[in-house]
Amino acid sequence: MIRILVVLASITMVAGAAQAADLARAEAIVSQVCHLCHGQDGENSNAVYPRLAGQNAAYITKQLADFKSGLRKGTMNSMAAGLDDADMAALGAYFSSKPAKAHRVSEPELAAVGQYIYENGNKWSGVASCASCHGAAAAGTDKLPRLAGQHARYLVTQLKDFNTRERTNDNAVMQSIASKLTELEIEAVARYLSGK
Ligand code: HEC
Ligand code: HEC
Repeated sequence: MIRILVVLASITMVAGAAQAADLARAEAIVSQVCHLCHGQDGENSNAVYPRLAGQNAAYITKQLADFKSGLRKGTMNSMAAGLDDADMAALGAYFSSKPAKAHRVSEPELAAVGQYIYENGNKWSGVASCASCHGAAAAGTDKLPRLAGQHARYLVTQLKDFNTRERTNDNAVMQSIASKLTELEIEAVARYLSGK
């Protein structure tokens, strides 16, 4: 019995050490490269760079693999080129462990329109409720991105890129949704989410 307990304890310690090693590996990559644009904690005040703090681990890992393979195009292609699978998994775990923050809402009336669309969609134009996939708290799921607290400007750019099919790395779901959103709806929903 004691032997089993000792074995179990050492397995747990090995797993814990492996996890710590992964986080240290991610931290080193972030301080060498990623911090320049995303900040050491996945938090940059410049709205061009998406917030990664609190983003879901598997989603980050998948996006990095897509940037590496060229399936998703942009500035990130060269950043991901040198990462291997273990790096990408470690970076996902690292950023998802950082606390997410919300912005101050700058235009509350517009954000209120955004909240309506986020929760209900737009039945007159056939836009599905965003909450039905991204969740009531906009925290996403393991594979679906967290939207709460993201920079409004980044959200606007992504919605437009889905619509023009500049971003096609995943399924076509977001393309068909974005194609039905008006400019006002995009601005409204992005403001609502950034303050959430
Ligand atoms: C030179 C600036 C720059 C550096 C350095 C950089 N990134 Fe990015 N990153 C961006 C930009 C800009 C985007 C937005 C997507 C786009 O338009 O290409 C982005 C997007 C991302 C995304 C997608 C986020 C989402 O919500 O879909 C992830 C994940 C990411 N970066 C991770 C990293 C990691 C990990 C590193 C370090 C290895 C890194 N980035 C280094 C500029 C940078
Ligand atoms: C049927 C499910 C579904 C619905 C409904 C949905 N989304 Fe998405 N959304 C996804 C998936 C899956 C992804 C990630 C994969 C991809 O790139 O297509 C995504 C990605 C996004 C992204 C990119 C996030 C990032 O970090 O780069 C934004 C922004 C977004 N959705 C906004 C919205 C908004 C706003 C609505 C409502 C008008 C909405 N979504 C409705 C499934 C959905």
